Amino acid sequence: MIPESFIQELLHRVDVVDLIDGYVPLKKAGANFAACCPFHNEKSPSFTVSPSKQFYHCFGCGAHGTAIGFLMEYSGLGFIDAIRELSSRVGLQVPEDEGRRPHDGPKITALTEIMARAAKYYYEQLKRSAKAIDYLKGRGVSGEIAQKFGIGYAPEGWQNLEAVFEDYAGAELQTAGLVIRNEQGRLYDRFRDRVMFPIMNQKGEMIAFGGRVLGDGEPKYLNSPETPLFEKGREVFGLPQARAALRDRNTAIVVEGYMDVVALAQHGVGNAVATLGTATTATHVQKLLRQVDRIVYCFDGDNAGRKAAWRALENSLEALPEQKSIGFVFLPDTEDPDSFVRRHGTEAFDRLIAQATPLSEFLLRELASHCDMTSAEGRARLVAEAKPLLARLQTPLLRLQLIKRLAEASGFSQPEVERLCDLRPIARAAPARSPRPEKSLLRPVMQLLLLKPELAKKLPLETLPDNSAEARAVRVLCETILAAGEPVPDYAVLLERLRGRDDETVLREAAAELMQNNPFAEDVVDAEFDGAVGRLHEAENIRALELLQDKVTKLGVAGLSSEEKQHYIQASKSVGASRLKQRKL
Ligand code: UTP
Ligand code: MN
Repeated sequence: MIPESFIQELLHRVDVVDLIDGYVPLKKAGANFAACCPFHNEKSPSFTVSPSKQFYHCFGCGAHGTAIGFLMEYSGLGFIDAIRELSSRVGLQVPEDEGRRPHDGPKITALTEIMARAAKYYYEQLKRSAKAIDYLKGRGVSGEIAQKFGIGYAPEGWQNLEAVFEDYAGAELQTAGLVIRNEQGRLYDRFRDRVMFPIMNQKGEMIAFGGRVLGDGEPKYLNSPETPLFEKGREVFGLPQARAALRDRNTAIVVEGYMDVVALAQHGVGNAVATLGTATTATHVQKLLRQVDRIVYCFDGDNAGRKAAWRALENSLEALPEQKSIGFVFLPDTEDPDSFVRRHGTEAFDRLIAQATPLSEFLLRELASHCDMTSAEGRARLVAEAKPLLARLQTPLLRLQLIKRLAEASGFSQPEVERLCDLRPIARAAPARSPRPEKSLLRPVMQLLLLKPELAKKLPLETLPDNSAEARAVRVLCETILAAGEPVPDYAVLLERLRGRDDETVLREAAAELMQNNPFAEDVVDAEFDGAVGRLHEAENIRALELLQDKVTKLGVAGLSSEEKQHYIQASKSVGASRLKQRKL
């Protein structure tokens, strides 16, 4: 664990504008800086960086974060690595955990250098190996494409890397996953007599390898283990090579195999990437949807491919923002993208991609396939099975679309489906009977807290209604500010503290809104806050009074306890009859 105080200091030392400008040239735009968003495809700049609050926000795709967040997103670094990198930029020493050994492994940069050196070695070895060249030729891979992907060959022999690295016995090579120590303590190369596919992160740094046997043999593919550089669930194969094509086509094709990516590139389909022998994760989806608006999964036509597609669907649901779409292509049985494109050609493949099955259709079809749609029970079961999937969706439009289709397929009406699935219609305005004054009241409170966190001390938490996401976010925000003590954390620090929590989203929205249009001049912040707190008190009184009135209507005044009666009188006084009436209408 890196101490919070260190993260705070780091965020104070780093300038997010400087940092981002190094990757994406920024232009001054009013109080902020702007550029075309590096995380999605756009023509006019909606990516905005706030120098005063030290965060970035894209009004197009919703990318949002601090300097740490930017490095993580842009470079695909993990949290700790992003902190390491930023620290070294500003000359701070990352405090090491006391519990750890003093030498707990080599630095990340050293590891990527090791991997790059190994890749270069394998690449050179390929030229010297007739059988490896033959193998690739046999699979239709040209020299040009082999070079584009840095494909190499790890020769036979147990300790070839000894000639490549001075310190073969050092811990680094083992940490990098290139060398293995057996039980007798003997060291040997992990990859031997295999065609090597280097895996790079988004930045183009070498982080892992996949090695294929030349003929038959087990395992067919040997991959790098998870290392400090390499987390399978975050990375895909072929990302840096696909970058330009992803931008051009605004679509990412996700396939299962290394050779699928390579063969597609060979046939002019440059926008394919492969998951690395694992299911597609929500992180994969998020990462890709930052760069494109559409993902098409193209899996093998066999049973395993179908299962993989279903897993991909499940993991895509929660990561799917509005305006983005997901499609599925199922290849004929026994074909994979590699064999398909070689047999049928680029045009046929492009057609498949263009005609991909929409997510909603795949979802429904798959569920319906194991429900008996001819019986009422079966149709009810369909709705029941859809329920947990619908709950994962964050987007009202897609949800609505699915509900409609579910209604059609099941014979239930749309409201019935909604009720069966326990869904509050997220897209619609709040029903008239339960006004939600909290939203409009809490947004400014949250924003004022972001502008001046020390105001947290003055917020009476008991006045917060407890039923809304905003109220929860305000509460968490206050608690975080109060728990931090001195110095009072500013927005960037708060954002890092809340990283990964649900409440983060609401805060992001509030901060983004401020960035676009800050209605609070510096000298009115305190007065605005007092005003907002006053309104919260009033809303709280109204809520209490309404509850009591309901009780009185049902049970008569006699139904109130003496304490409640007192409340009733007090609240009526402070709220004022006319206001209450107005609100009840
Ligand atoms: P497949 O078995 O579908 O192989 O594995 P493939 O990609 O068609 O391979 P070729 O065409 O015979 O060369 C799909 C992916 O699953 C992972 C690899 O990432 C592979 O590309 N895999 C497969 C492994 O990691 N290990 C294995 O032993 C097999
Ligand atoms: Mn294959």
